[in-house]
Amino acid sequence: MPLLDVQNLTKLFALKGGLFQKQQNFVHAVEDVSFQIEKGESFGLAGESGCGKTTCGKLLVRLIDPTEGHIYFKGEDIAYLKGSALKEFRKNVQMIFQDPYESLNPRFSIMDTIAEPLIIQDIGTPEEREELVANALKTVDLNPPEDFIFRFPHELSGGQRQRIAVARALVINPEFIVADEPMSMLDVSIRAGVMNLLLELKERFNLTLVFVTHDLAVARYMCNRVAIMYVGKMVELAETEELIGNPYHPYTKALLSAVPVPDPKEKRERIELRGRVPTPINPPPGCRFAPRCEYAKEICTQQDPVLTEVENGHWVACFQRG
Ligand SMILES: Nc1ncnc2c1ncn2[C@@H]1O[C@H](COP(=O)(O)OP(=O)(O)OP(=O)(O)O)[C@@H](O)[C@H]1O
Ligand SMILES: [Mg+2]
Repeated sequence: MPLLDVQNLTKLFALKGGLFQKQQNFVHAVEDVSFQIEKGESFGLAGESGCGKTTCGKLLVRLIDPTEGHIYFKGEDIAYLKGSALKEFRKNVQMIFQDPYESLNPRFSIMDTIAEPLIIQDIGTPEEREELVANALKTVDLNPPEDFIFRFPHELSGGQRQRIAVARALVINPEFIVADEPMSMLDVSIRAGVMNLLLELKERFNLTLVFVTHDLAVARYMCNRVAIMYVGKMVELAETEELIGNPYHPYTKALLSAVPVPDPKEKRERIELRGRVPTPINPPPGCRFAPRCEYAKEICTQQDPVLTEVENGHWVACFQRG
């Protein structure tokens, strides 16, 4: 049984219309997305800004409610849990956000910040919490913990703040973590440190990781499988090296053509995408990529392509399929 089995997951955001507007408009942030994640995997969600990566991540840890679909966590559908059942589920999962400036409350000391999930979950006495927080700080290499525990976020560097966010996620000992672009605000020089820390902690605590990124080079370093999203839809899913070496979807090909390839002999032709990313508000039927796709046929604007396995473990949603 996979750790997570996501079936037809959909999230629509209703837009507040004008006073006299008859039609209710919806942002189709995530639409009819299905995939499975095995325990111990590092699963990448990649794609351009606005394609629904963060929304998908928030749904998986149930920070937001889905509109439709199912999320089976160890066989139990957690998609619509409420109240104490939701709180119980959330003992197993955590999310780390992109921007440690935003995600850490400036008025909270490091102690308060990291202890917050423990307090929410009623774990430990104040003394026990202090010890758990100190251990979490050691785990993310902020040593000695006494030097950090009573400080405030603004007194720390960006890299240190991101480590605090990681410590906060780890303190309740979760099984599953969604890390939402956790390095994108950091200088390149400290990114590698945070990436390696996350990979190391994943092994050490047998974590399952969903890693959200718009950067395929980062996904290649961090993830054993990657899913590519485009305007709320999953267009391709495969093992990372397979996806990079043998992309099927015209959109994936275009994305990859923009990533610098380490081997200069392996020249890739740069594919320029025509037009713009379409709006996710009330999208027309058919493939979301069709208006920009040089291979688009009539069927592409009439029917939604279904994510289909084209080779072992390699899934593509395209009528062209290669
Ligand atoms: N609370 C909300 N209300 C209305 N629309 C929303 C809300 N949250 C997200 N959206 C919209 O849903 C779509 C997907 O957003 P999301 O933040 O998931 O994208 P993303 O892939 O994480 O983008 P980025 O790379 O910029 O972080 C976008 O069009 C966004 O504007
Ligand atoms: Mg995002």
